Amino acid sequence: MIETVAELAGLRRRIAGWRREGLRIGLVPTMGNLHEGHQSLVRLASRHADRVVASVFVNPTQFGPGEDFERYPRTPAADAERLERAGCDLLWQPAIEAMYPLGTEAAVRIRVPGVAAVLEGAHRPGHFDGVCTVVARLFNQVQPDVAAFGRKDYQQLAVIRHLAADLAFPVDLLAGQTVREADGLAMSSRNQYLAPAQRSVAPELYRTLQAMRDASLAGEPRAALESAARRRLEAAGFAVDYAAVRTPGLAEPADGTAGARVALVAARLGATRLIDNLEFALA
Ligand code: PAJ
Repeated sequence: MIETVAELAGLRRRIAGWRREGLRIGLVPTMGNLHEGHQSLVRLASRHADRVVASVFVNPTQFGPGEDFERYPRTPAADAERLERAGCDLLWQPAIEAMYPLGTEAAVRIRVPGVAAVLEGAHRPGHFDGVCTVVARLFNQVQPDVAAFGRKDYQQLAVIRHLAADLAFPVDLLAGQTVREADGLAMSSRNQYLAPAQRSVAPELYRTLQAMRDASLAGEPRAALESAARRRLEAAGFAVDYAAVRTPGLAEPADGTAGARVALVAARLGATRLIDNLEFALA
């Protein structure tokens, strides 16, 4: 059974022991309901650290009103098993009081400007404030040498890079590849909300990203391919929040310029909101 701690004092004792042995510590923050995507981050972190801590905490401050905080799937026994199988050494499963000792209303909030304001930030006001607020706490609690995040949440990774650089957290960030189902759908805890008919439509999200990439490579103007992507998703039954091609810093690239690009989509099937992205380069 994987060792689990729920109190900060216990976590700090364990970490301090490893530090005395001169071991490098890796952190994989999660909200639980773990799948192969999370396990791949644990394996990535263990290639860069001697001990890997995974955190499981469904963070209330990153959910907006009317979002799925209450019904977010909580599967502690299965999570512990998956972490153990992936080679995780310690499960940090804080009680809400350990994460927010003064309560969520009194919590010191961290806001990243710029990169956090667009796309997800525009559609989920306050979401990245909650993410940064909890990730900064996790960095201070665990004090990891490395921390692994998934490219699946491309903008989250960009926001956390900004956070870590600007507040001088002494942590190296690792970016894990997106793990997909056989039909291309990016693995996500939210996939299980999908009814069978919605689940069969969901891979259209990844196919649309591939079409956006191919149209970009063919030199199609950005505005045209973004609206074609939106129409394609709507025809498949999605309500679309955005379909966008951006630079790695999430700025709008000018047509005809070369460089790294990322296509990003967020769209809803019924009440289930899915996001995905695809990175490519224009020569
Ligand atoms: P959660 O959605 O549980 O995701 C935890 C980590 O797993 C994130 O870094 C996410 O990008 C990564 N991940 C999710 N699906 C993935 C997939 N299919 N392939 C690869 N990696 C994947 O993201 C969060 O939790 C929270 O916002 C958190 C950072 C823990 C702060 O509360």
